[in-house]
Amino acid sequence: MAFLKTLKRTNYCGALSAADVGKTVVLMGWVDSRRDHGGLIFVDLRDREGLVQIVFNPSLPQTQVAKELRGEFVVAIQGNVRARPQGMTNNKIGTGAVEVEVTLAEILSEAVTPPFAIDDPKVGETLRLKYRYLELRSPRLQRHLRVRHDVAHVVRTFLSENGFLEVETPILYKSTPEGARDYLVPSRVNQGTFYALPQSPQTLKQLLMVGGTDKYFQLARCFRDEDLRADRQPEFSQIDIEMSFIEQEDILEINETMLRKIWRDTLQVEVPAIPRMTYFEVMNKYGSDKPDLRNPLELRDVASAVRGQGFKVFEDVIARGGSIKALAVPKGKDFSRSAIDKLTATAKQMGAKGLVWLKDENGTVTSSVNKFFAPDALKKIYAEGGGSAGGTMFIVADDFDITCASLSMLRNELGREMKLIDEAAFKFLWVIDFPLLEYDTENKRWGARHHPFTMCKDEQLPILLNRDEKQYPSLLAKAYDLVCNGYEIAGGSLRIYRQTVQAAMFEALGLSETEIRLKFGFFIEALSYGTPPHGGIAWGMDRLVMLICGTDAIRDVIAFPKTAKATDLMAEAPSRVAREQLLELGIRLAPHLEPGS
Ligand code: AMO
Ligand code: AMP
Repeated sequence: MAFLKTLKRTNYCGALSAADVGKTVVLMGWVDSRRDHGGLIFVDLRDREGLVQIVFNPSLPQTQVAKELRGEFVVAIQGNVRARPQGMTNNKIGTGAVEVEVTLAEILSEAVTPPFAIDDPKVGETLRLKYRYLELRSPRLQRHLRVRHDVAHVVRTFLSENGFLEVETPILYKSTPEGARDYLVPSRVNQGTFYALPQSPQTLKQLLMVGGTDKYFQLARCFRDEDLRADRQPEFSQIDIEMSFIEQEDILEINETMLRKIWRDTLQVEVPAIPRMTYFEVMNKYGSDKPDLRNPLELRDVASAVRGQGFKVFEDVIARGGSIKALAVPKGKDFSRSAIDKLTATAKQMGAKGLVWLKDENGTVTSSVNKFFAPDALKKIYAEGGGSAGGTMFIVADDFDITCASLSMLRNELGREMKLIDEAAFKFLWVIDFPLLEYDTENKRWGARHHPFTMCKDEQLPILLNRDEKQYPSLLAKAYDLVCNGYEIAGGSLRIYRQTVQAAMFEALGLSETEIRLKFGFFIEALSYGTPPHGGIAWGMDRLVMLICGTDAIRDVIAFPKTAKATDLMAEAPSRVAREQLLELGIRLAPHLEPGS
């Protein structure tokens, strides 16, 4: 390859501009397209930074090379940058004011016809994931990788400048409880035993605090075997942070400052002070602990307005301590029978048993439950629920969680359908004061809402230490989430740092002494050797980058993501392994999984 030996690349294709006119440049890249105009041959040459038009003049011997070029061939050229003739500029691309007249050219690598055009948005995802390396050549994914790099860079710089040390923690480790299933790795040396890939470095970062690290961060890979969604991957990255000798306020403050720096440096957007709401405030107002605050719709409690009117459905819910809430929707959409059926189906998906609607027309309120309520009563309910002139209102009565979940779903759906959401905006929110525990009705036990290392409010500590189970529902955690546009982008807590409290917490979660010793013995012991008060947070790095890139799937910002079924279509992972390899590990497949069965 004579070209590479004699000539070095001088510029990226996509970085050329009018300022380069008159220069001789050496470019290397992929053929995006080729247009043969009889005499002149135009080629769009693409690299990481974008496209530039190069021109082969028929009077030059290089034209022969141009004739051989096909899509995705890799070529090197030398040429002169010149301004495009008047009327021939292309405003759609950054280099549209210039073109490069080729003086030397060489094909570095040929390409077979790719299975799809690199930047064709119509190509199905299966094909794109199978050939991810081709899709990565698209300007869209190139931009996403760049943004991801930039975010990582800002974070590393910011945290380093603020005294945090980046420490790597093991991937081959022990189960860490974050609520998902573990990925297990069998040990060959110790047959019959397994490592678990960390669901997060939670216990490790706390042990780093015990170890005196004081301020830690890591761009940590986490592994969770859980049902996947657009914002969840089985392996994902956290910006993981832990600090000693601090209070909740210190953590919120430094993370808010970091957030501002990220938005300023990557989007040139100034983020104002982030509002804070308690868990119960957000649930009551939006029905979700990760509300999209770009959506102006709000929930209101209407229990007192509907009470005592004899509508059995509502009376029963009130009698059993449930919750009756309304979602008021402004004028602007006519809700046909089928539209209401669709919304009812949505509410039912979340467990609601039905959906009542009220409608205001010229001051008269009608409803799907007209026969149960006098006109004045309907008017009162409509006013109490925050209804406006010409608008509509939806009511769900059920247990608190179901009422919230179903109306939150309607809120999202209507916000989108009625175009009430400013897609370009970012709305942040700190949610604080989460419940410490949640009751798992299926297994009839208490679970940790964040994780079992989270501390409760100081004044409530006796409840935990005295195992006062009746009071468990009232326990609040020193835990916080950062929410943006309906996504939970970070979450953390202050930790339990006293051994007795941690033991009480594990007991509250129904772990037996043997279980505690087997799973967390080392951890409980560590707490007894002088543990500083500490706390931290972890950001979902992929979700963060997804928001900054303006996409709605974290697959778009991960170089080699997995499908919803947790498979890698390109490398075909997971895959079967040789029987010998299993034997070495002391593992035999169940008979129905043996090849050929
Ligand atoms: P948590 O489980 O809330 O906390 O996770 C922190 C953040 O990680 C992101 N996240 C995910 N992103 C992509 N795919 C997933 N499957 C996934 N699961 C979680 C979310 C979430 O806010 N150790 C604690 C943090 C702490 O207490 O310091 C933890 O992992 O954006
Ligand atoms: P029913 O008496 O069950 O026929 O319900 C009368 C109306 O109330 C119907 O429009 C139902 O959709 C609605 N409905 C029933 N249960 C609930 C509930 N739990 N919350 C809100 N609306 C309900």
